[in-house]
Amino acid sequence: MDRVFNTVLIISSISATLALLLSIANKTIANYGNKKITINDDKEYIVDGGDSLLSSLIENEIFIPSACGGKGSCGYCKVKVDSGGGQTLPTELGYLTNEDREEGVRLSCQLKVKEDLSISIPEELFNLKQYEYTVNFIKDVTSKIKYLSLNLPEGKEIEFKPGQYIQILVPQYKENDEEIYRAYSIASSPASKNYIELFIGYTGGICTTYIHKYLNAKDKVSIIGPFGDFYYRDGSSEMIMVAIGTGLAPILSILRYMKEHKIDRKATFYFGARTRDDLYALEEINELERALPNFTFVPTLSRPTEKCDWTGDVGRVTNCLEKYLNNIEDKEAYLCGSPRMIDSVVDMLKERGMGEEQIYYDKFE
Ligand code: FES
Repeated sequence: MDRVFNTVLIISSISATLALLLSIANKTIANYGNKKITINDDKEYIVDGGDSLLSSLIENEIFIPSACGGKGSCGYCKVKVDSGGGQTLPTELGYLTNEDREEGVRLSCQLKVKEDLSISIPEELFNLKQYEYTVNFIKDVTSKIKYLSLNLPEGKEIEFKPGQYIQILVPQYKENDEEIYRAYSIASSPASKNYIELFIGYTGGICTTYIHKYLNAKDKVSIIGPFGDFYYRDGSSEMIMVAIGTGLAPILSILRYMKEHKIDRKATFYFGARTRDDLYALEEINELERALPNFTFVPTLSRPTEKCDWTGDVGRVTNCLEKYLNNIEDKEAYLCGSPRMIDSVVDMLKERGMGEEQIYYDKFE
C-alpha cells in the first residue's frame, strides 16, 4: 500500500514540476514582453512581443493594406523595416522582389515582433481607419451589378479623395469559413462624409457572393479605408476618362466632385459595356452632362443586339477612344477597369506621346 502511495506521490510531483517548468518556459521563452515599434523615426508604439507586425499595427489602429487577412497569400502588407525583424522568412519570398529585399521590405503579416523594430510606412496610412457601416439600401442596377448605399452612425465621418477605394471585411458565412478583405472603389462624392455608395459586380468570388446573395438592408458592414493613389488631380488640362463595368464608380465620384466644385475642365468619359442592359447610372451621368458644359459622355457597346435598338458607338472602349482622340496635347487620362483594358489604353496613349505621369489608373478584375 505504501509502495502505491509513494508511486502516486512521485508521479504527482513530476507532473507538478513539469507544469511549473512549462509555465516558466511560456513566460520566458514564448513571452517576448513589451516591444517598441518606431514608425518613420517619429511615432513610437509599445506592443506585446510575439504578435505579427500586421496585427500589432492594427491593434494601434494603423491599417496596412491586406487582402488575405494576414494569411501570407496576397502580398499587399509590405512594410519597409529599417532595423530589427531578423531574416526574411521563406513564406515571404514569393511576394518580394530583389529590390524589396535589398531595401528591407517585409510582409508585415509574417514578421513576428520579437525585438524592437523601426519601420517606414507612407504617411497617408495614418489616415486609414476602421468604420462600422449599416446597409441603407442595396439593389440591382444591372443583372450583374449591385448598388450599395452604406451609412455611418450619427456623428461619424470618413474623409477620402474622389477616386479612392475602401476594403470590405467579409465575415464568415454559409459558403465561406474565413474572414477576408476585398477592395471596392467609392462612387459617392467626398462631400458626403456620413455615407458611401459602391457598385459591386458579381464574379462568383467570396466577397461578391456575400454581397449579392447574403447582404441585406440594415446589415452591418465593417470597412477600412480610404486607400489608393488613383484620385482627382487639380489642373486645367483636358481629362480623358475610360472605364468598363464597375470602373464607372471612381469616375462617378470624380464627376460628382467636379460638379460640386464647379470645375469646368474639358472632360470626356468613354464607357464600355456589352449590351444596353449593362449600362447603368445613365440618368445621373446625363444630369452631369447638363451641369458640366465641357463634359461629354461617350458610351460604346461591344455586343449590341437587335433588342438594344442602339444608335450610339459600337465596339470596344479602346477602339472608341482611338476613333475620337485627335491628339494628346495638354491632356491627362483616368482609367479604371480590367488590367487588359488598361494595358491596351496605356500602350496606345504612350505610343501617341503621353507621358506616364499624365496617366492615372486603377486596375481590378
Ligand atoms: S496580409 Fe496578405 S500577405 Fe500579408
